[in-house]
Amino acid sequence: MSPEGMRVHRALAQAGVASRRAAELLVAEGRVTVNGEVAHVGQVVQSTDRLTVDGNPVNPEPIHTYMLNKPMGMVSTAYDPEGRPTVLDPMPNDVRLYPVGRLDIDTTGLLLITNDGDLAHQLMHPSSKVPKTYEAMVAGRVSAAGVRQLRDGVELEDGMTQPALVEILDRQAPGCTWLSIEITEGRNRQVRRMCDVIDHPVRKLARTRYGGLGLGKLRRGEFRSLASTEITKLEQIAGVTR
Ligand code: URA
Repeated sequence: MSPEGMRVHRALAQAGVASRRAAELLVAEGRVTVNGEVAHVGQVVQSTDRLTVDGNPVNPEPIHTYMLNKPMGMVSTAYDPEGRPTVLDPMPNDVRLYPVGRLDIDTTGLLLITNDGDLAHQLMHPSSKVPKTYEAMVAGRVSAAGVRQLRDGVELEDGMTQPALVEILDRQAPGCTWLSIEITEGRNRQVRRMCDVIDHPVRKLARTRYGGLGLGKLRRGEFRSLASTEITKLEQIAGVTR
């Protein structure tokens, strides 16, 4: 639910109680209460308000968690003052969603999008150390010493990076190296900055895994709901208890 709240019949519809029209009727018939008081048509409610229909509690807005395979050129914010496409553009707009962390405009790949504040908060919290795997095409031929540096940690302006899992995927392509890099931090532009330090700037970057989940067959620009087993996995990794 948005911080400004929403009309009670819409909140009921969103919770799956009835269609908006039928929910409005329930309100008009005096069958709905908000915090113990009979609701009136058009009343605005907040996500913290307790709603009942015929005395039965209504669970608040249902939780939605999606995986998006982000294409290039989208910003990872809900709104962009410059009017560029955002990662929320392809998503359903019946609930207020937000991205879990961000990918740069030129980074593609796995981005979680949810209205589950607890899960998002915990996943993004540095103490959760959620693993994120990237495939990076970097300029030049990366040596074993370069790989070791990335693995051990490099000095960025905001401090040393934590140890990372780094593998060379392909060194055959002319003028570049493909690397797999798994980090457990989520600093701004971290992978690009790490590769800059070893003088192999990133030319292409895609996130392939997040918190143990992979993209599978999800194509660029597509999204899907997470299965309950996937949500459980994320909750375990992030230490969310309900
Ligand atoms: N690291 C980066 O440099 N960019 C991203 O988008 C994600 C991680």
